[in-house]
Amino acid sequence: VIPAITLNNGVEMPEIGLGTIGNRSDEKMLEIVRAAVDAGYRSFDTATRYDNERALGRAFDRCGIPRDELFVTTKVWNSDHGRTRTLRALDRSLQQLGLDYVDLYLIHFPAPKLGLFLETWLTLEDLYLSGRARAIGVASFGVSHLERILDGGSIVPAVNQIELHPRWQQKTLRAFNEQHGIQVESWSPLGMGGALYEPVLAAIATKHDATPAQVILRWHMQQGRIVIPRSTSPSRIRENVGAVTIDPLDDGDLSAIDALDTHGRIGPDPDEWSEDDFDMRPRVSEVYGR
Ligand SMILES: NC(=O)c1ccc[n+]([C@@H]2O[C@H](COP(=O)([O-])OP(=O)(O)OC[C@H]3O[C@@H](n4cnc5c(N)ncnc54)[C@H](OP(=O)(O)O)[C@@H]3O)[C@@H](O)[C@H]2O)c1
Repeated sequence: VIPAITLNNGVEMPEIGLGTIGNRSDEKMLEIVRAAVDAGYRSFDTATRYDNERALGRAFDRCGIPRDELFVTTKVWNSDHGRTRTLRALDRSLQQLGLDYVDLYLIHFPAPKLGLFLETWLTLEDLYLSGRARAIGVASFGVSHLERILDGGSIVPAVNQIELHPRWQQKTLRAFNEQHGIQVESWSPLGMGGALYEPVLAAIATKHDATPAQVILRWHMQQGRIVIPRSTSPSRIRENVGAVTIDPLDDGDLSAIDALDTHGRIGPDPDEWSEDDFDMRPRVSEVYGR
């Protein structure tokens, strides 16, 4: 069983969820959701932007898991910031997913140049109070964006989902979240697969009779973070959840991974970015040499 973390409003969220970006077809989604459910996953991370909420909802239907066992996260995209659009965006997401509520609704990016993230946050607060989201949070919010909603809002975000992997560890931002009771969730926890080939990880993995992916995921979890690794392969989906049962990493292992931090951001800078498509693949090779 995947352990859960209690968020600041008392809602329990599994420590490992399945990332779903890139999977659009009904058939592939069903295959990976079935594999994930069989392996014990109950938490699934999607977004309007991923264009797969409908496929995910259909897969839930066909797997027959009771709604109250599922933990579903989706996100409002930049082009839906602002009150009217955000309300409509969650309606649309729920309809696509075939659900009455989501477990976690996130602002996908702060998109500060649009100047609407506080208004969007206040709308999420209303959606939370209406029961259509059991918890609300943000993604890729930096300290200045968080300060703005902590000042202007009345609910502290339950989660900040941020880019976080061995070469981009965001220690200052993590500390700020912790200080305010905001749970950190790592997106691209494996550095989009690039981080798996770090030699240090191979050595730790051999020592613990584990795989590099399990070591990285365990490192995140032992430091208190939720992870949402993505895989299209049933066997790797199972492998990743095995991070829960490997031997605990010792202090030496944890600090060896901590030492990999090189400020290697793969994704876009949330302060600068709002609308354009952003190709992260070239950045994976710049950061990890893969
Ligand atoms: N909030 C945001 O803006 C944001 C941005 C990016 C991502 N996310 C979320 O975070 C999730 C995860 O991030 P991500 O998809 O970018 O990257 P990731 O989970 O760090 O890495 C995924 C890559 O690693 C490979 N992989 C997974 N498990 C493996 C294993 N055990 N052994 C070897 N290779 C393995 C996958 O390939 P295979 O499929 O071949 O296994 C895939 O290429 C996304 O799906 C999405 O839900 C959120």
